[in-house]
Amino acid sequence: MSPPEFTETFRQDFQTLLEWRRDVRRFRRDPVPPETLDRLLHLADLAPSVGNSQPWRLVLVESAEARAKIVEIFEAENEAAARTYTDEQAGRYRQLKLSGLKEAPVHLAVFSDENPQQGHGLGRATMHETLAYSTVSMIHTFWLAARSEDIGVGWVSILDPERVTEILQVDDGWRLVAYLCVGFPEEDNIVPELERTGWQSRSPLETRLFRR
Ligand SMILES: Cc1cc2nc3c(=O)[nH]c(=O)nc-3n(C[C@H](O)[C@H](O)[C@H](O)COP(=O)(O)O)c2cc1C
Repeated sequence: MSPPEFTETFRQDFQTLLEWRRDVRRFRRDPVPPETLDRLLHLADLAPSVGNSQPWRLVLVESAEARAKIVEIFEAENEAAARTYTDEQAGRYRQLKLSGLKEAPVHLAVFSDENPQQGHGLGRATMHETLAYSTVSMIHTFWLAARSEDIGVGWVSILDPERVTEILQVDDGWRLVAYLCVGFPEEDNIVPELERTGWQSRSPLETRLFRR
């Protein structure tokens, strides 16, 4: 197969995709068509991975009971997090909407297999965490693919990973990397929500770029 030639129009569209990808917490309740979700998962499955190990393990959390328990865990951990702030900042924290767990039509728990057979261990001997990094690259691929189809993704990390693992009854060797809410966003925005609420703005790249 001959390789593709990406056009300037594609590059501009890709830039637009990156600029308009958002972490979404406000979802419409209408379902994501199953064939769309299936397509997005197959696209995300094209992500790079250490030793070609594809360590991501994906759990679609469909049971109402499991979802309700996840919401409970989030609420407890979010309250604990709120208590780590004081005064005015605590008040501002409590005003933030930090998950769309109750509204999102799709809950996707993403685990990373800590010892996959696939890949024969290549590349991870000195940096075991490359397995989790591979899983994060899958998540980001999913995030972008979803946005390209007007579907929003929200990453929820305010959870106790051990309890989530227990509730979902997955293999002991799987480590929770992300709990994702997926669905059609209530609105699109070019500015991150944390920036719009005044919690935290982005800083210029130059403050993070070093030369040696
Ligand atoms: C590893 C990771 C964990 C995150 N956890 C949460 C979370 O628990 N709740 C939340 O509202 N946003 C969470 N986010 C979203 C970030 O707040 C968001 O990416 C950031 O504010 C920039 O906004 P943007 O993604 O819209 O550009 C998480 C993002 C990442 C990458």
